Amino acid sequence: MTAAVIIIGSGGHAAVVADALLAAGRQVLGCTDSDVQRHGAQVCGLPVLGDDSVLVHHQPALVQLANGIGSTRAEPLRAHVQGKLEARGWQFTQVRHPSAIISPFAQVAASAQLMARAVVQPGAVVGDGCIVNTGAVVEHDVQLGAFVHVSCGAVLCGSVHVGAHSHIGAAAVVRQGVALGARTVVGAGAAVVRSSTGGQTLVGVPAIELGSKT
Ligand SMILES: CC(C)(COP(=O)(O)OP(=O)(O)OC[C@H]1O[C@@H](n2cnc3c(N)ncnc32)[C@H](O)[C@@H]1OP(=O)(O)O)[C@@H](O)C(=O)NCCC(=O)NCCS
Repeated sequence: MTAAVIIIGSGGHAAVVADALLAAGRQVLGCTDSDVQRHGAQVCGLPVLGDDSVLVHHQPALVQLANGIGSTRAEPLRAHVQGKLEARGWQFTQVRHPSAIISPFAQVAASAQLMARAVVQPGAVVGDGCIVNTGAVVEHDVQLGAFVHVSCGAVLCGSVHVGAHSHIGAAAVVRQGVALGARTVVGAGAAVVRSSTGGQTLVGVPAIELGSKT
């Protein structure tokens, strides 16, 4: 029996997660949100049940969680909340929209999220908590560390390596073989052609570090 799911968060990313889970035929009980103003609201027809304290009414053996907290840069919240709940025994489910094309020769972690029309090619490794968002392409032999977000329409060419907690902006392109260290932020629309050590924000075509242009 496939476990029912509760989504942590009730914002825009939570809606995309809900949509993907429902499209995949999963039973979704609702969302949580720490903001009391959101309690009783609906996300894709699902109720916002309350804050995370509602989890006391459920058992990890019967219910899995899905991470509905999005990220637009190298923010720690998404990973922090997931880590806290995993330490309490909760398991985060993989989210896979039925229209995603995922090679059976790719390795996708249990809590990764693969949204509508995402493509993951052979030899790719998608780490825990990663998001491969709508229409993003993760080419052959790409490696994504934990909690990397590949935003909508971004393209990671073959053998790109991306360190943990990095954010690849919408419609960005990373050239084949480039390695980006942990907590790199790539701006929307950037073309990254050189490797970098991590922690930088890279923007433009070709991408340079934000603020480095004189
Ligand atoms: C790169 C980014 C993180 C910078 O955010 P920020 O630090 O808040 O930057 P600001 O908006 O204050 O802009 C700072 C400067 O960078 C420029 N800039 C911002 N984003 C840029 C981008 N993607 N490409 C080129 N230049 C950019 C701004 O024009 C501004 O230039 P100025 O100082 O000459 O006026 C952000 O703009 C971005 O692209 N985020 C990705 C968003 C995304 O992928 N969303 C998808 C979610 S699914």
